[in-house]
Amino acid sequence: MYPRWLLAGCIVLVAQADGEPGHIFVDPHSGHFVDTYGRVRIFHGVNAVLKVPPWLPQTDHFTSDNSLDAKTMDLLQEWGFNVVRLGVMWPGVEPEPGQVDQGYLQRVRYVVDELKKRGIHTLADLHQDLGSRYFCGEGFPEAYVEELLRDPSSQMSQVPRFPHPFPDLPRNESGVPSLQGCLQRLFSEYYSTYQVGALFAELYRSGSRLQDGFLRFWTAISNEFKDDPNLLGYELLNEPSGTCLKAHDAFACRLSGHAMPVEFNNKVEAYYLTPLYQAAARAIRETGAKQVIFYEGTVWPKVGADVFPGPALGAETQQALAYHIYCQPGDGDNWPSGLVCDAAQEIFEPRSVSGKAAVWSV
Ligand SMILES: *[C@@H]1O[C@H](CO)[C@@H](O)[C@H](O)[C@H]1NC(C)=O
Repeated sequence: MYPRWLLAGCIVLVAQADGEPGHIFVDPHSGHFVDTYGRVRIFHGVNAVLKVPPWLPQTDHFTSDNSLDAKTMDLLQEWGFNVVRLGVMWPGVEPEPGQVDQGYLQRVRYVVDELKKRGIHTLADLHQDLGSRYFCGEGFPEAYVEELLRDPSSQMSQVPRFPHPFPDLPRNESGVPSLQGCLQRLFSEYYSTYQVGALFAELYRSGSRLQDGFLRFWTAISNEFKDDPNLLGYELLNEPSGTCLKAHDAFACRLSGHAMPVEFNNKVEAYYLTPLYQAAARAIRETGAKQVIFYEGTVWPKVGADVFPGPALGAETQQALAYHIYCQPGDGDNWPSGLVCDAAQEIFEPRSVSGKAAVWSV
């Protein structure tokens, strides 16, 4: 038996090793976020995502819509916010395949450090909507998309051209649809197009250049921030798509393009997202980063099923479900539309948790 003081000494050491001030953990028993004192922490915050170059909100001066400068941060602190979900954009990190832009990482670090001075944590969000400007959105470095469009053997170049099954849009000489044309529809409708489906299928294909780049992104980010307790965690992929993934699934794509999604189950989460997320989590943990890893399902509500069949990262304790569910535009304007929101929150949210992952609502 060891003397009592030695045991006590060990405990203090363990607590210090785990206890970089500011580091937030998931308590796997309760599913709560806790700090190093064991206190439950509740986060309120905002998204800050710049979806065009230079891929970070500007930090020099205040604007009413897209700055993240000192004044904006002071206001966030004054209003009681304690987290920012920051779009750390893939084309910013990897402007050309295989080349990580250290300058961009330093600009991200500057934002994280300035937020830290105001007691605000940062969630690093690999943000995307529709993946590419070629498809009226953004998110993946365009060079990957261009390679796939050029490669006659890719699914993307074999399926009907974007925005099929919708009517064509005016484009410029590089084949990029005009913004004005894009804006004629709600952006989310373009998920129901063959080429966007093929782009996501490529991301989910193990060993594809696109997936390798995605993993490289997470290695670069976690390597940069692994010792930073103010970085709350890594949100692997904003709003992954599960629509039109298969080239010959013409019926499903057409149907979902014009009406409702055809599936409300968790097959996409189980078969495509879980392996992708596990690969990204391995890349992150290999750098030694210990922060929480946030993962997301598709945005469609599930009926009679959890968002994932179980915690997506298996036995990993530091994981959280980034839960997205949306109501119709204009919800809350009146009572019938408010009901849709209530249904979304009251019926689907309790079903979102399975196992011991923490839950993060956006
Ligand atoms: C087409 O539009 C894209 C996006 O705005 C732009 O990057 C590209 O340079 C344009 N191409 C031409 C030929 O104007």
